[in-house]
Amino acid sequence: MKVLVKDLIRVYRLGNVEVQALRGLGMEVKEGEMVSVIGPSGSGKTTLLNIIGGLDQATAGYVQVGDVVVTALQPSQLIDFRRKSVGHIFQTLNLIPTLTAAENVELSMIAMGASRGSRRKRVKQLLETVGLTERANHKPDELSGGEQQRVAIAAALANDAPVLLADEPTGELDTVTAKIVVDFLVKVNKELGKTVIMVTHDPKVARVADRILKIEDGTIKAALTPAQIVKEEGAISYVDQLRARIADIEAQLVKLDEDFKAGKISGDEYVERRQNLKQTKTSLDEELHRMGVVT
Ligand SMILES: Nc1ncnc2c1ncn2[C@@H]1O[C@H](COP(=O)(O)OP(=O)(O)OP(=O)(O)O)[C@@H](O)[C@H]1O
Ligand SMILES: [Mg+2]
Repeated sequence: MKVLVKDLIRVYRLGNVEVQALRGLGMEVKEGEMVSVIGPSGSGKTTLLNIIGGLDQATAGYVQVGDVVVTALQPSQLIDFRRKSVGHIFQTLNLIPTLTAAENVELSMIAMGASRGSRRKRVKQLLETVGLTERANHKPDELSGGEQQRVAIAAALANDAPVLLADEPTGELDTVTAKIVVDFLVKVNKELGKTVIMVTHDPKVARVADRILKIEDGTIKAALTPAQIVKEEGAISYVDQLRARIADIEAQLVKLDEDFKAGKISGDEYVERRQNLKQTKTSLDEELHRMGVVT
């Protein structure tokens, strides 16, 4: 499901003081795409996600999710929209401390009126998706930070919404755990075909997406590819460089398919270029493997 944002403005009024959280922001996320939104604290990232997700209302501008014009919805319609279309992972975890991992995930399904049997089945599937089958009966304080965050991802997937919004899903986590959590989001994007918008302040986290949008003072200042953000980061590991090159080749393969379908290149050229790219990708994959990285 695609997400389209145009000229989005959000002004908060606190007494006489006005805060312009969003100042005419525009962006487009394609169906099935994973996009990172990166930017400094206070730049409007959470505000943006909350408006896309129907939790907050725009002062002006246009937001469309799939066929729904979110900015035209009444508050009662927003609730329905959220239930059907959006999975939301919050900046501050919102797991219930007295419930187990399985119950926390199940909770988000009760409001949808699913039967007990179907809920149980789905909870099992979801915990498997995030690799927590063994932790189903643990309460949040019996789980690590990364595991808690994966429970939150499973809960956000419970309504099988086509759009997943993740606000700093790795905020409190160390680098290694952050990578594990983010890899699950990538998996959800790739394997379940969800459109994912992930907010983060960490370039290392951001670069797993197809595209990275840089937000500053409530507008998008730049759009970067994973390879570009890796370059911007300066010192980066060899493994990360390999990953960036693989991502870049994958993008080139998609573009090549598009060009061929659009009749821009001949069949022969298509086959040859495709083979070359595939070959390069295979050797990069093998190199990653030799480095001990599981892809
Ligand atoms: N409910 C609110 N009332 C008043 N001002 C708000 C409100 N929510 C956000 N703001 C202000 O709007 C601006 C953008 O806030 P937002 O939470 O979107 O930033 P952010 O990019 O998510 O920051 P962080 O990285 O710290 O989470 C900030 O200046 C913030 O103080
Ligand atoms: Mg925020």
